[in-house]
Amino acid sequence: MTQNTKKLNAAREAIKYVQPNCILGVGTGSTVNFFIDALADIKDKIKGAVSSSVASTERLKALGIKVLDLNDVESFDIYVDGADEINHQMDMIKGGGAALTREKIVAAVAKSFVCIVDDSKVVDVLGKFPLPVEVIPMARAYVARELNKLGGQAVYREGCVTDNGNHILDVHGLAITDPKELEKQINAIAGVVTVGLFAKRGADVLIIGKEAGVEVIK
Ligand code: A5P
Repeated sequence: MTQNTKKLNAAREAIKYVQPNCILGVGTGSTVNFFIDALADIKDKIKGAVSSSVASTERLKALGIKVLDLNDVESFDIYVDGADEINHQMDMIKGGGAALTREKIVAAVAKSFVCIVDDSKVVDVLGKFPLPVEVIPMARAYVARELNKLGGQAVYREGCVTDNGNHILDVHGLAITDPKELEKQINAIAGVVTVGLFAKRGADVLIIGKEAGVEVIK
């Protein structure tokens, strides 16, 4: 089975969590793209989606799914998104696609985070995937020095400008044994917009596409 088939299977399983007449949050990335495609089949049964990126908004609209402004929505039940890594405590690294800030905002409003991944994303310790940090452009070099003091090697993602007009530093070489504490520490550095650690608000449901089928962990 290919990695894409595993992603597709996880995405299709997540459709079961979409209730009739609901609003839902939609993440960003190749796994979520399979979810958006599947959502199109039931688009007349939902009120609409809040999107976490320009890319997902375009895909949702192209398939005729109504996109709502987060400022017009007080709360909704589920946010469906992928992850770059997820551990057994449901903490995640996200931001490989540079959409981490809007993802964190939309996830914060949702009552439940449904994470959809293929089995290559599940790890014991986060950090093999370089940790993305969105920074205000003028603070980039300063934030990189501060991140290096935490034990990583921050690398500027050349040519990447986020949907919010900011830059991304990818922090290599971290073994993240206390994700909540590291999230707090990085958030406290002046110039950091968002760290791609989703630990304070981790996933509530994890759907893993595997060789043998789909595993759901709650
Ligand atoms: C986007 O910025 C990310 O947080 C994605 O959710 C993450 O990179 C997973 O993407 P894939 O589904 O493409 O692996």
